Amino acid sequence: MSEGTIQKTAELLEVGCYVSTQVLISKIDCTESELKSILESMRGQGYEIEENPELGIRLLSDPDVLSGRAVKTGLQARILGRSILYDSSLDSTNEKAKTLGRQGDEEGTVVIADEQTEGRGRFGRNWFSPRGEGIWMSVILRPPSVLEPYTPLSLVTAHCVATALRDVAGVRAEIKWPNDVKIGDKKVCGILTELDKDTAGTSFLVIGIGVNVNQTVFEGELASLATSVRIETGKAANRTPLIRKILENLERSYLKAVEEGFSEVLKDVRKLCTLVGEHVSVNVGSETVQGYVQDIDDAGRLIMRTEDGKIREILAGEANTVR
Ligand code: BTN
Repeated sequence: MSEGTIQKTAELLEVGCYVSTQVLISKIDCTESELKSILESMRGQGYEIEENPELGIRLLSDPDVLSGRAVKTGLQARILGRSILYDSSLDSTNEKAKTLGRQGDEEGTVVIADEQTEGRGRFGRNWFSPRGEGIWMSVILRPPSVLEPYTPLSLVTAHCVATALRDVAGVRAEIKWPNDVKIGDKKVCGILTELDKDTAGTSFLVIGIGVNVNQTVFEGELASLATSVRIETGKAANRTPLIRKILENLERSYLKAVEEGFSEVLKDVRKLCTLVGEHVSVNVGSETVQGYVQDIDDAGRLIMRTEDGKIREILAGEANTVR
């Protein structure tokens, strides 16, 4: 069954209200038995559909089925999401967004996939991106040079995801510098920001966001490291409103940073940062720095007092709390 036919049928159906079977058949331009197999394929994708011989066909709930159109409906943003590319499967949304960015695609273009076959994490790691279970999304930004260096944007994005998770899913998400979102001591979201150049030689950023939403279990080494919204709340979550909220938050913070610089935006970010005041160990390249976190400065750097009393400003690395 083609994605296009399923998409069209989904757009014709409504939650709670019956649509006559004859109307559907004529609008989709199919036979009754073709309609039956379309509905079966949709059920396989997670749609809950009721068929009533007298009244017609209706959706029983808002399905957790992603599409560019669903994300755009009600999206309160004017730049982020003005163009949304959705694909049921991509190797990596960051790779796709970089290809589009190199061709000159505009700022605010969003790439979303239901699954990634080669999802990428920081430090060349893989990012587990199973079908239907998370938000695998990348955003193209073309920040003005006043925002250089762009490093704090990853931290700002982590804050946008954390507040979206708090507001939409009701979980106590916090930020772990430089760009993880955690619930308790497990990771629920990672951010991979990449800088590239288009064919005209202009730099652009791709901000890749991976949020674990509906996984019920993590296997192997991920079991002790990762969590999902569903594991935390005990309920499946619909990804579309979460995506919208992340994009709305990111647009607001980004435009504020463009207007006023990072200083004001980072004030909010610090309130959700778990590491300030903690004794941490940070891997910076081949070096390990241990000490107490004093602050995160306006350039997004971790300010540490090391054990010999020196102050270190760390721009990027991987931090772990020392217990
Ligand atoms: C991390 O290591 O914490 C960063 C993970 C980033 C994963 C996201 S999922 C969407 C985008 N596409 C990718 O291939 N990676 C990022």
